[in-house]
Amino acid sequence: MATEGEPAAGSRPPRAYESPGGVDGKSTNWETPWDLFEALDSEFRFICDAAAEQGNTKVPGAFISPEEDGLAVDWPRGSVWLNPPYGKALSEWVAKARAEAERGVTVVVLVPVRSSTKWWHEHVPHATEVRLMIGRIQFIGAGVDGDERRASPFPSAVLVFTPLGGPPRLRHVDLPRGGSKGGER
Ligand SMILES: C[S@@+](CC[C@H](N)C(=O)[O-])C[C@H]1O[C@@H](n2cnc3c(N)ncnc32)[C@H](O)[C@@H]1O
Repeated sequence: MATEGEPAAGSRPPRAYESPGGVDGKSTNWETPWDLFEALDSEFRFICDAAAEQGNTKVPGAFISPEEDGLAVDWPRGSVWLNPPYGKALSEWVAKARAEAERGVTVVVLVPVRSSTKWWHEHVPHATEVRLMIGRIQFIGAGVDGDERRASPFPSAVLVFTPLGGPPRLRHVDLPRGGSKGGER
């Protein structure tokens, strides 16, 4: 795991690094709004951010970088935050989150609701909790000018994978005020 001020370990190219060019032709790496993360952090007390860089980690000093490859390494036991790249490897990230929970890790994952995909039907039933977010998240970096926030074009859910597995409890959850926009209720 990378620590603040320390170069990330490993020199091989990351297996699943997603460069810009994903969701609606923009970056697949939109950042979680801090108010949403902080609400979840106060509940779960995250010890690691499983997909991040020095400049966008939500758990400074305890994140897994693309160079280390969060898909390839074990995650620390405790509560781990994951907002994965929403590109082609998204299904691998959700599978990894489930596998880590089976090893004893509690993984909280922010995903787009894609109930037409194979990964959704394969893995979501094994989550302990599914929180369907009411409204659209304003991701950081989703706007036209780089760091500007903009309501996402897709609905989101927070999946909680724990060693208890599924079937999941289904909840309908309001977003923190600053982190949401619009919303069909
Ligand atoms: C959607 S962003 C999330 C950033 C931050 N963790 C957050 O929640 O706001 C996904 C991050 O995962 C990084 N990433 C991509 N592939 C990765 C890999 N194989 N291992 C670890 N991180 C990776 C990207 O560079 C990007 O910083």
